Amino acid sequence: MASITIRQLDDDLKRRLRLRAARNGRSMEDEARTILRNAAGIEGGGADAGGQRPRPTGRSDSAADAPVNDRNVGTVPGARRVLLIIGGGIAAYKSLDLIRRLKERGLAVRCILTKAAQEFITPLSAGALAGEPAFTDLFDATTELDVGHIRLAREADLVVAAPATADLLAKMAGGHADDLATAVLLAADCAVLVAPAMNPQMWQHSATQRNLARLIEDGVDLVGPNAGEMAEAGEAGVGRMAEPLEIVAVALALLANAAGDGPLAGRRVIVTSGPTHEPIDPVRYIANRSSGKQGHAIAAAAAAAGADVTLVSGPVNVPDPPGVKTIKVQTAQDMLAAVTKALPADVAVFAAAVADWRVDKPNANKIKKQAGGLPKLGLIENPDILATVAHKSRGRPHLVIGFAAETDHIIAHAKEKLARKGCDWILANDVSAATGIMGGDRNTVHLVTARGVESWPPQSKDEVARALVSRIAETLVRIPTSEPGH
Ligand code: CTP
Repeated sequence: MASITIRQLDDDLKRRLRLRAARNGRSMEDEARTILRNAAGIEGGGADAGGQRPRPTGRSDSAADAPVNDRNVGTVPGARRVLLIIGGGIAAYKSLDLIRRLKERGLAVRCILTKAAQEFITPLSAGALAGEPAFTDLFDATTELDVGHIRLAREADLVVAAPATADLLAKMAGGHADDLATAVLLAADCAVLVAPAMNPQMWQHSATQRNLARLIEDGVDLVGPNAGEMAEAGEAGVGRMAEPLEIVAVALALLANAAGDGPLAGRRVIVTSGPTHEPIDPVRYIANRSSGKQGHAIAAAAAAAGADVTLVSGPVNVPDPPGVKTIKVQTAQDMLAAVTKALPADVAVFAAAVADWRVDKPNANKIKKQAGGLPKLGLIENPDILATVAHKSRGRPHLVIGFAAETDHIIAHAKEKLARKGCDWILANDVSAATGIMGGDRNTVHLVTARGVESWPPQSKDEVARALVSRIAETLVRIPTSEPGH
């Protein structure tokens, strides 16, 4: 069977595909798949070339969907500037692609290469892609007089260190400034995003984790690292640098937050996500299969749209979304307390799969089998967090949104929940095992409001999140922002 690869396409087609993929936040392969799905009339294909995507769009007005600059290296006048610090790791080659992805979104990119980075890529290639020479030396008489490390730091709207090696993280955590990269990082007064990349042992080392904790405490944002194969033969684990498009999405969210210009700028959003764990004894608990992917994607999309987001999450294996304040809880009672503390908010989205019941008297010690017979577990109902917030007479968010995870009579159950819980919208989805939605990456939702039901096409959970955020932004346009104590 004949096969087509993107490499075989002609240059113009490749360029168009790359720009289109960038505009839609997808990889080129995913974009090609989407085009083919649309051409074949398969649901869930996403936007077509003419923008004739079925409503809702799955795209938001957020900075993540900002118009793509049609010239690869052209930069929009007055564009926001990303200062990209490239550290010395094999992942440096991905940073060249990162430069292109950032530029495609109309951002100006300036590069600094550490000495070690120059063992992997050249300042010439980084500079050629960025459209201006890359910087390398702290004590370079020409550049220090002409630009200077302080000016490099001041002129950046966002500093991105990618790849951030273990050594670079250690220097940042310790406040070192013995080369251009570290001096600029110390002088920067804008947001700083690091994309670590290193061997899994180095990543797990307590020294690296200590440095990372310090950096997070200092307000540095983190993307990745991801799990996977390492460049060294036979090595695998957590340590691969995040993919360029992942870094771009986070960078855009941070820029939107900093500029306060996203469609949700100035808005406070609370999102719950993941399951809750209700203890039976110190080692056992009641839980469910929720992965937290949808809730976390909503928090990330709201942050990308400029909102001030608090995510209250049960135990999950997905990373904390950058640019979001994440509060980790175990039980439904903890979740309610954290949500109540995070109020007031303009919007609250309850995507968590809260355990309906908890054990009334969890055992202080592990229940032993030999104790005779089956343990008797008394269950009591957990507080309904969504209903509690939706029924508040004072301090109720303008928009309270719930999910309805159903396995049958989806719309009927969702309508009933909308009324019973007193929320404004319900996103209903079919979570029967056959759909693969619980734990999977795609979702098919129905938006149920007092005005009716809207069935959205099957989409990735990220697309559902962006479509929801877009709809929230449209709805909030005429509502003043909430003030503490409103
Ligand atoms: N929810 C909540 N607190 C609970 C239970 C549910 O905040 N104790 C929220 C969920 O986050 C979701 C919505 O209520 O937004 C509906 O959750 P779901 O599990 O579908 O409904 P239940 O209330 O548990 O009802 P049922 O078990 O009858 O389906």
